[in-house]
Amino acid sequence: MTVKKPPSGKKSSTSNRGASKNNPRGAQQKVYVKTRKKRSVSSARWLERQLNDPYVAAAKAEGYRSRAAFKLIQMNEDLGLLKAGYKVVDLGAAPGGWTQIAVDIVQPDKTGGKVVGIDYLDMPEVPGAEFICLDFMDDAAPEILKKSIGGKAHVVMSDMAPPTVGHKQTDHLRIMALAEAAYEFAREVLLPGGVFLSKVFMGGAEKDLLNSLKRDFTKVKHVKPHASRADSSEMYVVALGFRG
Ligand SMILES: C[S@@+](CC[C@H](N)C(=O)[O-])C[C@H]1O[C@@H](n2cnc3c(N)ncnc32)[C@H](O)[C@@H]1O
Repeated sequence: MTVKKPPSGKKSSTSNRGASKNNPRGAQQKVYVKTRKKRSVSSARWLERQLNDPYVAAAKAEGYRSRAAFKLIQMNEDLGLLKAGYKVVDLGAAPGGWTQIAVDIVQPDKTGGKVVGIDYLDMPEVPGAEFICLDFMDDAAPEILKKSIGGKAHVVMSDMAPPTVGHKQTDHLRIMALAEAAYEFAREVLLPGGVFLSKVFMGGAEKDLLNSLKRDFTKVKHVKPHASRADSSEMYVVALGFRG
């Protein structure tokens, strides 16, 4: 599979206004859930959102396992994170959208590069990648990953997110704990010049992580790809040029 750009939809002035080749978002006719009465409010809301999400449709059309694939495509296009021949660690890999994109770009079969994913949720194999079904917070995980990648890595990327509990502060702290653990791991395995990318939620506890990243990398920035839902406080921190 090669990395495909999401379709921009029909070129009609009303059906897809604002959409671009990498941003299939646009004004579309809203789909409503007919079985709303039989569902809980949150389930109906979720379904309605899925049905009206152009990235869900685009992911399905392009054979990507998640709409999250477009987040990585967009960040990679803007910042040039992945290259053929790279060794890439994908933390929180399931269902495999980011792994698919990484394999497409790294081309492990041709280049000797490697893509290794880990998640405590199982997922079907992505040809060309290795997958470890394990909690990244398990004490054994870092060593298993290092062995699998076979030396140092060019990129450590984390899209890990714990199930939300609905309490904003708790959710924020839990995701930041994962981002910090991902960063500690990245410090151990990255090659000089390497890239660290992690999902974060905006909020206070992020300052410490940011300061450490600024110390260890030449460039640190926050990005919110178009494919990241506007109503979510999700962002990504991207750190380039690991000082080693
Ligand atoms: C947003 S999804 C990742 C989507 C993925 N990037 C893709 O493109 O398909 C977040 C993932 O993080 C995983 N996750 C959360 N905590 C984890 C942990 N401690 N260890 C491993 N995976 C974890 C979840 O199981 C979930 O599959």
